[in-house]
Amino acid sequence: MRIDKLLTTVGAASRTEAAKAAKRGEITVNGVPVRRADVHVDPDRDVIVLRGEPIVYKEHVYIMLNKPDGYVSATDDPREKTVLELLPEKYRRLGLFPCGRLDKNTLGLIILTNDGEGAHRVLSPKHHVGKTYRYMCADPLTDVDIDRLASGITLDDGYVTKDAVIRADDGRLTGEITLTEGKYHQIKRMFAAVNNKITYLERISFGHIILDPDLERGQWRELNKEEEALFKA
Ligand code: URA
Repeated sequence: MRIDKLLTTVGAASRTEAAKAAKRGEITVNGVPVRRADVHVDPDRDVIVLRGEPIVYKEHVYIMLNKPDGYVSATDDPREKTVLELLPEKYRRLGLFPCGRLDKNTLGLIILTNDGEGAHRVLSPKHHVGKTYRYMCADPLTDVDIDRLASGITLDDGYVTKDAVIRADDGRLTGEITLTEGKYHQIKRMFAAVNNKITYLERISFGHIILDPDLERGQWRELNKEEEALFKA
């Protein structure tokens, strides 16, 4: 792989910056400065350093973000703040996109990646990846509501939801719901279909990946090895 391609893939430099850095002798491969950005390196074996910083090559990046209120799950938007804006500049060059959408006022776990194939796989309804949300609603849920929400309910556009797992806490105003699909405003519309209203929604897990409780709203980190394996599994 060309060294400039490697540096752009990991977001360490643009192609032009890589060329300039090489000319200035700021890139070393196995301790030796390279003077051209088109030299080929083996990312698995060569030690590449840019201005004293070792470069760790990864084909894809996977990020867990704790989405705050008021951000849209898009890569860019003419009016709204996007979840991408919560990441540092370096990560914004990597072609990351949110893996599925949360509403502007929904909080919690969002995964950003540039692994198009992986994202497609986990979002495909055929793979039944469960996403769990904590909810709060305006009126206490009845047993009948819970049964209807769990066993497929008809939404305002006639769509019948797939089976869901729903649990209500004591008081029946809060609880958790797990869906294996993600239609537009799905949970809000499911609750509307039982004449209720969602007043709070937070995604707490995506498949087996759980929102890190140490991440404050708006904070993010890369997935660790185990989480990355779960995402790809
Ligand atoms: N269901 C919703 O209604 N909103 C979300 O953001 C996610 C699921």
